[in-house]
Amino acid sequence: MKNKKPKKEKSGSISRRGFLKGAGIAAAGTVIIGSGVAVLESRKSVQNKDFEPKTINISMKVNGSIRQLNIEPRTTLADALRNELHLTGTKVGCNRGACSACTVWINGIPTLSCMTLAIEVGDREVTTIEGLAKNDRLHPLQEAFMDHDATQCGFCTPGMIMTAAHLLEHNPSPTEKEIKVALSGNFCRCGTHPKVIAATLDAAKKM
Ligand code: FES
Ligand code: FES
Repeated sequence: MKNKKPKKEKSGSISRRGFLKGAGIAAAGTVIIGSGVAVLESRKSVQNKDFEPKTINISMKVNGSIRQLNIEPRTTLADALRNELHLTGTKVGCNRGACSACTVWINGIPTLSCMTLAIEVGDREVTTIEGLAKNDRLHPLQEAFMDHDATQCGFCTPGMIMTAAHLLEHNPSPTEKEIKVALSGNFCRCGTHPKVIAATLDAAKKM
């Protein structure tokens, strides 16, 4: 028995099967390309709309003045002071609550500004090392730190002074042991502690 030869399609004409195959591939291609574009579009809109950093306006009393800030809610008080208000006296050492270099006062209480969000401050007053000097006169502790050469790289110094100044406000004549206890959370990698204690004792006498 002879095999039946497949029917040849006339050149130039399109068979029904050929047309359906071609149309199917084109349609699938459109769907794939179309869905690719849709994915890109949806990614774009997710990136642009949902994850764009949003800023808010807050006001904060710092060193006696009301300051306006436009910040992301995640901004720490340390970053707000340094980067937005340019009060770079406050230093960031560890940025995780371990060294106390970033100590400022909030309503007179020593507080780690790296562990506090700027939006948490509310209507309380922040005092930084820049706000400790009064009427162009350095705080007695600032003078004593200079007299006793109680600073080397200086990274811990503002935090040390803010903590020691709080101690002297509440205990004008501290013993050496009380100073050590008060400053036990303030780390100095340059080893200035003996001079810091001597400076604090000296400032207490002068105050
Ligand atoms: S920088 Fe804030 S505790 Fe170290
Ligand atoms: S003076 Fe350098 S860390 Fe204290």
